[in-house]
Order: sequence, then structure tokens, then C-alpha cells
Amino acid sequence: MEQQNPREDQIIIETRQLCKNFGPTIALDNVDLKIFRGEITGLIGENGSGKSTISSIIAGMQPPTSGAMFYKGQPHQPATMIEAGRLGIGMIVQEQGYVPNISIAQNIFLGEEGKFRKAGMISAGAMNRAARKALDKIGFHECDPASSIETLDLQDRKLVEIARVINNDPDVLIVDETTTALSQRGREIIYGIMRRMRDENKAVIFISHDLDELMTTCDTLTVLRDGKLIATLGKLEMNARVIKRHMVGREMSEKYYRDDFDGRMSDEIVLNADNITTGSGLLMNFSMQVHRGEILGIGGLSHCGMHELGKALFGEEKLLTGHVKHVPSGQCITSARGAMKLGFGYVSKDRDKEALVLTASIKDNIVSAGLDKVRQFRFFIFPRKENAYVNKQVQDLSIKCASIRQNVQFLSGGNKQKVVFGKWVGRGCDILILDCPTRGVDVGVKAAMYALIDNMKKQGKTIIMISEELTELIGMSDRLLILKDGQFAGEFQRSRTLSEHEIIECMI
Ligand SMILES: Nc1ncnc2c1ncn2[C@@H]1O[C@H](COP(=O)(O)OP(=O)(O)O)[C@@H](O)[C@H]1O
Ligand SMILES: [Mg+2]
Repeated sequence: MEQQNPREDQIIIETRQLCKNFGPTIALDNVDLKIFRGEITGLIGENGSGKSTISSIIAGMQPPTSGAMFYKGQPHQPATMIEAGRLGIGMIVQEQGYVPNISIAQNIFLGEEGKFRKAGMISAGAMNRAARKALDKIGFHECDPASSIETLDLQDRKLVEIARVINNDPDVLIVDETTTALSQRGREIIYGIMRRMRDENKAVIFISHDLDELMTTCDTLTVLRDGKLIATLGKLEMNARVIKRHMVGREMSEKYYRDDFDGRMSDEIVLNADNITTGSGLLMNFSMQVHRGEILGIGGLSHCGMHELGKALFGEEKLLTGHVKHVPSGQCITSARGAMKLGFGYVSKDRDKEALVLTASIKDNIVSAGLDKVRQFRFFIFPRKENAYVNKQVQDLSIKCASIRQNVQFLSGGNKQKVVFGKWVGRGCDILILDCPTRGVDVGVKAAMYALIDNMKKQGKTIIMISEELTELIGMSDRLLILKDGQFAGEFQRSRTLSEHEIIECMI
């Protein structure tokens, strides 16, 4: 049986030469994608391959850098997600997609409250009744639309988002890595919705990293790698081996990683996480140990729990079970403050939100973590020492700025990231936890950071590097831990022959 190519007149969305850059990062590189009616199109690719970026551009959440899109044969340039929604494109996002502290019904009719206005007043009763219908439509019967969204657990909040999107009766539904966050019942609901849309000759774009799920659910599967469309497979061409080969297929040509393949480390354990379970539920009964002078890489697919692990090691996650112990001092880590006192440093993934005070100067940012180095007494700061200290950091890291009094806000991404590094490296910390340290920076800055990390290792410091980039994990780590669904999935030692393939095998 030959896979019949769907007829061209069944194309509902088409992108041509679509590109998206984030500073130096090329998230989408001339992508020509066709989405057909009557099909569920799967998108797969390593973390950072561009799946969420292309989906969010189609759904109006951000514009492309260049290229064109067509929807139902017309040029498509939605300015907002609401506009795309009105045109019939609905997206269930990877991250949280609800507004806290309002009711379930208000969440379903966000931005559409006007529909329920009577004599100038919003009729809560009418809105609640309409919400009840929207929830029933997807088979979510057991909640009260009038109650606060907070009364639901995270899985059920996702169902409310689904009800909102489906209530608009979209012609195109995009589901971005939602199923991992859902209970089995939630998954059945979403599979049912996707199948129904296909049967109604509508279109679905389905993003997941679960190969089995994709192969059973999708009619075609498109593989992205480094922002490029690599292959589109029909039902008969889908097999796990072929898909993985398309996902990896990249050469490790970058020269800036460590060039030694020693990977030996001291026997001394500096950090011991014992049976930890986080309040968020993303890590379950997880244990690990870190050696002095080791670069420990941590990887996995979305929702594997690696970012929560970084926070937990730094004392920023509430633990339901277990503990994190700083072995040399015998102390348990229960707060970031305590961790910093013991010589921990932490670079968070979301550098704009957490790691820097954007409205403060470079100097204030660098000094905020290194304060105890320049403060002689508790309330007394020597301004000259402070300036000298900051100037040294700026020089060492070659941060490009007009002055150390310049606001961090207006620095380029790479230079911002260097300021974050400066904060912690300058502090001389012994254990540095890096969450996606090179996200969105160019190769020059990357190389500088890798050199710094290597240098710190040579000084006997311990580095825990969480990353979504397999090549950098392989290139830099002495040892590599892989997480899957909040649990340990595998461990690899540094070696010249370590391949992306065997690691991906372990992640999926
Ligand atoms: N807002 C952003 N700022 C900077 N870089 C970004 C942003 N969003 C995505 N990226 C980068 O673009 C690339 C593609 O990301 P994304 O589309 O989220 O990948 P995927 O969904 O396939 O995991 C990655 O390198 C990511 O780090
Ligand atoms: Mg994504």
C-alpha cells in the first residue's frame, strides 16, 4: 500500500522559508512546513530544535524574523494569540497557560467576558453555565466552574485550558508537550479531541517526545533538528530507529569543548542528594552524589525534572522527602541563603527573571552576590574596593559595556549571561550549579564560558551543569546523569566514544 500524498488543496497551513532568531541563536532556519486537513501532524526533535518556536509563531504568540505563512490560502500574520484564535488556530502551550486566582469559568472565557454582559454587568451565572457546557464538551464533568482555578490540581488545570481552546471550535489545534503533564484520563481526553478533529477534516499539530505516543497518534511526523526541517515521514515510514537517526545526525565539530577525555575524579563526595521528592512532584525519590572537582552533566527531555533538581540542590525547592547534604560540613541544604554560606553558586535557566536585577547596574548585579568579598564589616562597604572588584570581573569576562554603572537591561544576551557568571565566579564559590548556562549565547561567549568552567574544575571546584544541549553535555562532563519523568534513567562516563545516540535512547 502506498502512502497517498494528501492533495495540495487540503493544505491548511503552510510556512515558507520561515526563520526566527533570538540574538545569535537561530531557532528556525528556513522552515517549509505544510499542515494538511484531516491529519494529525507530529513534531519531534531534541530539546531546542524549534518545535515550540514554530508552533507559537503559527499561533500568533510571536512574529517570525523572516519568511511567510499562509492559512487557508491567505497570507497569515497574526499579531496576537487572540487574533490567531479568532481565525481558528488554538494552541495548548507547554508551560502554564492559565491565570491564577480567578475562577475556572473566568479562565475559560478570558478576554470574552463581554459576551456575558447584561445591563453593563457581567453575569457570573451565565458565564458559569456556559463554562459548564464547555467543560462537558471535553468530558470534564467533575468540577464547579464557579470555584477558583486554584482548587484544581495541575493536571486538571490543563483540562481547563483545553476546554477554553476547544470551546472556540478551532480548525487547527496545536498541542505542545501537554500530554506528559496530564493524567491518563487527561490523555484519553486529548487523544479523543485530536481524533475527532481529524475526522471533521480539521488539522492537529501534536508535539511530544514520546515516540510510541507519536507513532500511534500521528498520520505524519516531521523531524526538526537545530531549527531545520529534516524529514517528514508518513505512517508507513515511521519507525523508532529511523526517527532517532533523523533527530541526532549532527556532527560534533565544535572545537571549544574540553579536549581531554580523562574523566577521572576524586573519590571525595561533596554533595549528596538522598531520596529527594519535590513539592512540585517533578522529582520523585531521586538520589545522586557529586564528587569534588567533577563536572557533572545533567540532561533529559522536557519535564524530566532536571531544572527542579538544580533548584533543589541550591535549597530553592521544598522537599517532601529526603535531603540534600553538603558532605564536608555535614549540613543539609534547606535554603539558598544557607547554600550560599556553604559556597554554593547558582545560575538559573531564566536569567531575565531570576538571575539578574535588570533595572540595576552591572556593578550592583555583580556585587550583590560577591558582597562578602568587599564588605569588611557588616554595614560598611569600601567603594574603591568595590569598583576594583567589579572592574576585574568585567575585564576577566570581557563584558562589553560603556561603564559598570550601565543598566544590565540594555546589554546583549551574551553579555547579560556573562554578568550572571561574574556574579558567581567572582564570589569564588566551591560548588557551582549551572542551569542551561549557554542558552541563547553566541559561540564566542560559549567558548569563554567553557574555558571558565574548565578552569574552575582545574582549581578543584565542583560544577553541576544542567543542559538541554547534548553536545555540550558530552563535550564538557566527566559524568553525565540522565533523568526521565523525575527519576534516574542512566549514567554515562566521559569517553571519546560516547555517542548522542545512546544517550537519546536513554532519554526517550
Ligand atoms: N525567548 C527566547 N529567548 C532566547 N532563546 C530562545 C527563546 N525561545 C527559544 N529560544 C531558543 O530557541 C531554540 C529553539 O527553542 P524551542 O522552540 O523552545 O525548542 P523546542 O520546543 O524544540 O525544545 C533553542 O535554542 C532555545 O534556547
Ligand atoms: Mg518546546
